[in-house]
Amino acid sequence: MTTTRRPTATRLALAAAALSLGAAALPAYAASAEPIQPLEPARVTDPAKVELGKKLFFDPRLSRSGFISCNSCHNLSMGGSDNVAASVGDRWQKGGINSPTVLNSVLNVAQFWDGRAKDLAEQAGGPIENPIEMNSTHEIAVATLRTIPGYVQEFRDVYKTGPLDIGQVTDALAAFEATLVTPNSRFDRWLTGDRNAITATELKGYELFKNSGCVACHNGPGVGGNTFQKMGVVAEYKTDHPAEGRSAVTGNEIDRFMFKVPTLRNVELTYPYFHDGAAKTLTEAVDIMGRLQLGRVYTKEENAQIVAFLKTLTGEQPRITLPILPVSSDRTPRPDPFAPIVAPRKK
Ligand code: HEC
Ligand code: HEC
Repeated sequence: MTTTRRPTATRLALAAAALSLGAAALPAYAASAEPIQPLEPARVTDPAKVELGKKLFFDPRLSRSGFISCNSCHNLSMGGSDNVAASVGDRWQKGGINSPTVLNSVLNVAQFWDGRAKDLAEQAGGPIENPIEMNSTHEIAVATLRTIPGYVQEFRDVYKTGPLDIGQVTDALAAFEATLVTPNSRFDRWLTGDRNAITATELKGYELFKNSGCVACHNGPGVGGNTFQKMGVVAEYKTDHPAEGRSAVTGNEIDRFMFKVPTLRNVELTYPYFHDGAAKTLTEAVDIMGRLQLGRVYTKEENAQIVAFLKTLTGEQPRITLPILPVSSDRTPRPDPFAPIVAPRKK
């Protein structure tokens, strides 16, 4: 380790200690030059599977109404989210929680705010059978896809084995989502040596982000997404929202209000912020993070510098060619936007 590197690691350790995370919680790369690493572009090994997953992602026929696709709430034209505080799903029902972006979600330690799905494939089964999201069941979704000859053929080409099942559906969706990474942000270009890629103000913002301890939780290539941390370390977060966080999964009281640290990649695009969508702007979110997580009140100028830095994390958005979906057959259920709830199950 060179002397120029040591201060970063030391500060990180101090920040972690201050948050009583303990040295053991420090990620291995804390000792590397910077606590944030550039994003690697996606490596596609199975283009046919990715293409199939893309079709499914855009296909409203996965929902009971025939009207809602994954892209309805994770709009890939707008940062992979829906920009509303809580998602709106089947029959205009208000969802329970803010939708996180699907961009770079492959980097997450687990999926959902409370981490209840271990990976993208496990996650993808959730919204299909969530009554307030796509309001279907795995059985109905699969039966519908089986009525579409183009899909039957494409699944057979990709998976070799039949019949088409939910495991294949979620596997293909996950393969597509794994390509939704956003490399080459201006900050990544700075990290890889282009010192002119960010402005002096943005650099000041990064120094503040690093030195005041934001990086204790927002670090790694995703600038978050890799740990669960408490919302409200120094002061309590006040919200009417019922989400209890990680304790809903572990049953441990100590995990109450622990949420997956959101990635800050493309955070400029993914407003509003926090699990309850209560912070409408980055200025607000940074102010709350400073006060609640670090006990630090930033001046207006400091806040603006951090916000300017956060905007340098907007990367190259995935270039998607709109997929043309296989045509329905006469047996394929027609859209029924007001179909009754078929899946009174919890996601
Ligand atoms: C009605 C809106 C809606 C639809 C439709 C929807 N999602 Fe989501 N998605 C959400 C919400 C809200 C969450 C957060 C839920 C939670 O954490 O409890 C979420 C979470 C996720 C996550 C986890 C991201 C993270 O950082 O934890 C992924 C991945 C995802 N959705 C993919 C999909 C896929 C794939 C589909 C289609 C099969 C889909 N979603 C359909 C609203 C939606
Ligand atoms: C102790 C860990 C921790 C520290 C330190 C921390 N954060 Fe966070 N951050 C979180 C968690 C957890 C959330 C999600 C909280 C929630 O939604 O309830 C979050 C959410 C955010 C969000 C909203 C992202 C979104 O998509 O909703 C932003 C922006 C953010 N943090 C920026 C910062 C900044 C800037 C700092 C330093 C001033 C900071 N954070 C310090 C853990 C931390």
